[in-house]
Amino acid sequence: MNEQFIPLAPDDIPTSWYNIQADLPEPMPPPLNPGTGQPIEPALLERIFAKELIRQEMSSERFIKIPDEVLDAYLRLPRPSPLYRAKRLEAALKTPAKIYLKCENFSPAGSHKTNTALAQAYYNAKQGTKRLITETGAGQWGTSLALSCSLFGLTCRIYMVRASHGQKPGRHIMAKLYGAEMFPSPSDRTSFGKQLLAGDPAHPGSLGIAISEAVEDTMTDEASRYSLGSVLNHVLLHQTIIGLEAKKQFESIDVRPDVLVGCIGGGSNYAGFCFPFMLEKLKGKSDAEFVACESKAVPHTTRGTYTYDFGDTAKTTPLIKMLTLGSGYTCPPIHAGGLRYHGMAPLISYLIYKGYVTPMAYHQTEVFQAAQLLAKTEGMIPAPETAHCLKYVIDRALECKRTGEAKVLAMNYSGHGLLDLSSYDQFLSGNMVDFEPQKIQPPPAL
Ligand SMILES: Cc1ncc(COP(=O)(O)O)c(C=O)c1O
Repeated sequence: MNEQFIPLAPDDIPTSWYNIQADLPEPMPPPLNPGTGQPIEPALLERIFAKELIRQEMSSERFIKIPDEVLDAYLRLPRPSPLYRAKRLEAALKTPAKIYLKCENFSPAGSHKTNTALAQAYYNAKQGTKRLITETGAGQWGTSLALSCSLFGLTCRIYMVRASHGQKPGRHIMAKLYGAEMFPSPSDRTSFGKQLLAGDPAHPGSLGIAISEAVEDTMTDEASRYSLGSVLNHVLLHQTIIGLEAKKQFESIDVRPDVLVGCIGGGSNYAGFCFPFMLEKLKGKSDAEFVACESKAVPHTTRGTYTYDFGDTAKTTPLIKMLTLGSGYTCPPIHAGGLRYHGMAPLISYLIYKGYVTPMAYHQTEVFQAAQLLAKTEGMIPAPETAHCLKYVIDRALECKRTGEAKVLAMNYSGHGLLDLSSYDQFLSGNMVDFEPQKIQPPPAL
């Protein structure tokens, strides 16, 4: 067996997603209606989301079958994605640790985001939705949804955080090529956007604001539905294809990961990678460590509060229980646009709060240094988001060098950085600035 590159045959692709809600020690705190303070009625969400996605959001079924049409679309991405052993990085670090990367960078849109975009486009097309409306930060999610809508015959409208729209032109060009409409947010298309632009015509925007605009727009057109690229249970569910494949790949070489690492923006790629392995930890059958990495500029899990909060800035969404910096938190303009969100997926928040997952936070300059080492040793240029967990893996491998431990370190390589080269240019020219909030105003108790 070539232990460098561990494939999985198309016939062995998992045919169901794994729903961790079936195995948690207690039910998750429900989303609340902000008007009544009571658990939200699923019927109220039908104007926003496809019905099947609402069913999956609330489901406690352990495995949910992947529809044949979605499985077929996965195979064409192509999935299964390879598991890769980074031996040249190991050699450069002179570490006895083994480093594995689960490669989500081969999707045409460049990241893991297509795993849920395809499923969401499919369920919406099936129930007769004509248009999906969404927001995007750095643009990875927007391009994935644009591609998926095009494959399933839907139109797509995207509100892209204005700061990233300027920084990452490649992503909105891609989304437009796939046929989507793309608007920088805040925009003059919604009343919330107009209100913000009136206060500051050059407002940089944020993911929370773009969500508010996308939801407001969705409510104006009965044939449209809204689509979210992270945070919610059904999104995390679709991403478990990553970890289910990785589990089979590790079993095929008879290796068990000791540490499972990923970056967290809203939590979807990390959940997808780690939940199938977490199953054994929840049952007390594994002592693997789980580590989630974020930006020090947006320290939602290392410095956030575990409480009910809104998912968007205009406070239009249901209240969800999560680790949050407060829905009004102003995210500094870091290069990892996909990590700029005030909250964290309720499922990941719960697992961190209960001590199953350890959060870590890094500055962007040290993260780009880690990325450059991977580029020089393996030729791979990671997305700035992905590079956050690479930083942890490199530090941990160096610790193994000191202790002599041959740990197996597995990370989710969530996307490539080939459309982030202007960020790398700033790093190389020494112009990168690190941000860290001094004091964080905890969100109001609700
Ligand atoms: C490549 C990549 N990795 C990670 C993330 C973070 O999102 P999530 O935590 O939902 O996986 C993003 C978000 O845009 C991304 O583009």
